[in-house]
Amino acid sequence: MSRYKTFHKMLLGSGMLLLVLVLFGMARLQAKASESADLVAEGKQIFRFDTFGDQDFWGGQLKLHQAIEGEQFGGVGDGVSPATALAVGLKVDVDALPESLQGQLKRGKVDLNDPAVTLALLKLNAVVGVTGFFNTDGSLSAMGIQCALCHSTVDDSLAPGIGHRLDGWANRDLNVGAIIALSPDLSPLQTLLGADRDTVVSVLNSWGPGKFDAELVLDGKAFNPQQITDGVVTGTNVSGATLIPPAFGLAGVNLHTWTGWGSIPYWNAFVANIEMHGKGNFFDPRLDNAAQFPIAAANGFGHIQTPPDEDLITSKLPALHAYQLSLLAPLPPDGSFNAKAAARGDALFEGKAKCATCHVPELYTEPGWNLHTPSEMGIDSFQADRSPDLMYRTSPLKGLWTHTKGGFFHDGRFATLLDVVDHYDTLFSLGLSNREKSDIVEYLKSLGDAPLQTPKDDD
Ligand code: HEC
Ligand code: HEC
Repeated sequence: MSRYKTFHKMLLGSGMLLLVLVLFGMARLQAKASESADLVAEGKQIFRFDTFGDQDFWGGQLKLHQAIEGEQFGGVGDGVSPATALAVGLKVDVDALPESLQGQLKRGKVDLNDPAVTLALLKLNAVVGVTGFFNTDGSLSAMGIQCALCHSTVDDSLAPGIGHRLDGWANRDLNVGAIIALSPDLSPLQTLLGADRDTVVSVLNSWGPGKFDAELVLDGKAFNPQQITDGVVTGTNVSGATLIPPAFGLAGVNLHTWTGWGSIPYWNAFVANIEMHGKGNFFDPRLDNAAQFPIAAANGFGHIQTPPDEDLITSKLPALHAYQLSLLAPLPPDGSFNAKAAARGDALFEGKAKCATCHVPELYTEPGWNLHTPSEMGIDSFQADRSPDLMYRTSPLKGLWTHTKGGFFHDGRFATLLDVVDHYDTLFSLGLSNREKSDIVEYLKSLGDAPLQTPKDDD
């Protein structure tokens, strides 16, 4: 009896102990979960607002802020009105605007041709991807750019170009080249490229909306002499710029960029240092190859060093990575594709059309080393040759419907998804009928992995 009681007590005791352990464990798990939520929240701030100190380049060196404010406010030229800013694809975050201003905008009571309004928007931190730095007299002292400049857009909820932020979406309206070409001082780029201002300006203006040439400052190659698809020359001296890809839906994908330069954190460090001109550290001895990357090799771009206490990039890479991984590819709106045709397209994608051999569902790229040679893809090697592995990366396809402007493949050579499918039909002799091709297109339009982000107030 007493033994039984002791046993009973022991049982109760150990039960209590177990409960304590479980509760303790749960608390720890919860702490862990909130730690990673914090990391994602921190990454969101960085993605949207961190310039990594790049205002010393965009403002300090190119003096782009002077062109924005115009002579009237101590800069140069006419200044950039909101109408001009919107026309070159810059976006305005409606959630950063006070309600009174939202109302005035809705009623057409804001003069969108007045550069002073652009300055007011910058003061409100409402221009997506651009930060203005102000003097005490209200004029600009510098400006910097963020990841969100190219990899975010807005949902146009208030007006075209003005709405809630959509992080990770490629801004295919943004004319990066035309914006940079406004800079009063292009000498840093002239020196790097060994070209005069007119040449640099004509290269920048050759990019067009939705494109940027990340390799230009490595190899100085501005134009593809011959764009070739399926053995046919489809263009000569085509701009070397590539389309801005989305920065969502990338979890699980090994190599990134059109030509597979590296992982997400590799490319984040590359961009923040080499393209945005933030202050950090970057190491990649592949850029010492002077035959392939003459400008990068001569300027030591593979060995960028900043003392730890002045490094504004490295410590932010983990949070930035976490945030990018959290960005799912949005599902298309209801009714934007034919569901029955898409289901037939799905079967073709995985069967007769052989798409899934490379675009493996649910990643839609190869798990593993996701690269292919230009000849495998039936296209010229110009852009592949500008990267370390000389190949093209199998594009992840989720969220395709969000970036139909500007075309498809790295240089946008295919205007429509049907053009893409036609190319594969020729390249792999698939023998697809017209109906099969359009079924595959409907399937491509259906891909995504999360409900459409419904923006919240804190978003
Ligand atoms: C000036 C426009 C611009 C800015 C600013 C920019 N990017 Fe990009 N991003 C591009 C372009 C263009 C590419 C494609 C480059 C290539 O393939 O050579 C790209 C590629 C990427 C990719 C690869 C996507 C994929 O499909 O694999 C990621 C990830 C990325 N950028 C993240 C970032 C982050 C993070 C920042 C801020 C630190 C940033 N980008 C800033 C234009 C930009
Ligand atoms: C041998 C591997 C391979 C096969 C098979 C393949 N793809 Fe691709 N796909 C790629 C690569 C690599 C790219 C990137 C090409 C580039 O950037 O120039 C790509 C790009 C694309 C794009 C453009 C994405 C964008 O963001 O612009 C679409 C759409 C696409 N493929 C659909 C398909 C369909 C549909 C099929 C089947 C009919 C298919 N692919 C078969 C490797 C493949």
